[in-house]
Amino acid sequence: MNIVVLTGAGISAESGVPTFRDADGLWEGHSVEDVATPEAFERQPTTVHRFYDARRAALSTVEPNPAHQALARLEDAVGDDLLVVTQNIDDLHERAGSTRVLHMHGELLSALCRGCQGRFPWQDAMDDFPPCPGCGATELRPDVVWFGEVPYQLDRIFLALERADLFVSIGTSGAVYPAAGFVQAASAYGARTLELNLVPSEGTHFFDEARHGPAGRLVPGWVDDLLG
Ligand code: APR
Repeated sequence: MNIVVLTGAGISAESGVPTFRDADGLWEGHSVEDVATPEAFERQPTTVHRFYDARRAALSTVEPNPAHQALARLEDAVGDDLLVVTQNIDDLHERAGSTRVLHMHGELLSALCRGCQGRFPWQDAMDDFPPCPGCGATELRPDVVWFGEVPYQLDRIFLALERADLFVSIGTSGAVYPAAGFVQAASAYGARTLELNLVPSEGTHFFDEARHGPAGRLVPGWVDDLLG
């Protein structure tokens, strides 16, 4: 059985990473237009760098939770038959042990050079405009996909959706496309679809089945059912 799992901020919530659209979510204190668009970066690069620098630094204070661990356990059991597509820019899936992970919205621990288009592993702050390790230009930006930009790896994702027997969406509000449309694509290609989220998502009615509660409980339970 081919399984595609889509994850969003809700899977990392119990690790202490804030979601975007819940009360106390990241967008409560920041306007998207001020930090998560190419225009914002043109207008006020230092503010944008500080926003992502703070989130990158916070990664070292959080750990994967039982939901991330359950997906790693599932990969151990089914190998290549599982693909995790994440909208998250944290590294908690990898730290839990998952290896088949596509970061469609990029990664905090990567820098993208606007000069040479190179990508580089990155741990430090960027608000001091460090030189690119590849070409030396001071053109580094966070390697994340901003509003108005095209998500990464869409070809591979849609191929996987086409082949999927089961599509599971975990911890995402279903507010942001194209990820919000994966459920309909998977359904159209013939997959069964399941939502695991704290509350019904905006697209909950598109799923064959929905279970609502914290990911740290629902995901291990679902993986147990599947492997049992
Ligand atoms: N367990 C499961 N689900 C949870 C939990 C939890 N413990 N806590 C919160 N949730 C749910 C919320 O109810 C909400 O439906 O997770 C969802 C998080 O939604 P968003 O904050 O909108 O995050 P996400 O769907 O990942 O956002 C998509 O939007 O802002 C952009 O690029 C950003 O990748 C992000 C994209």
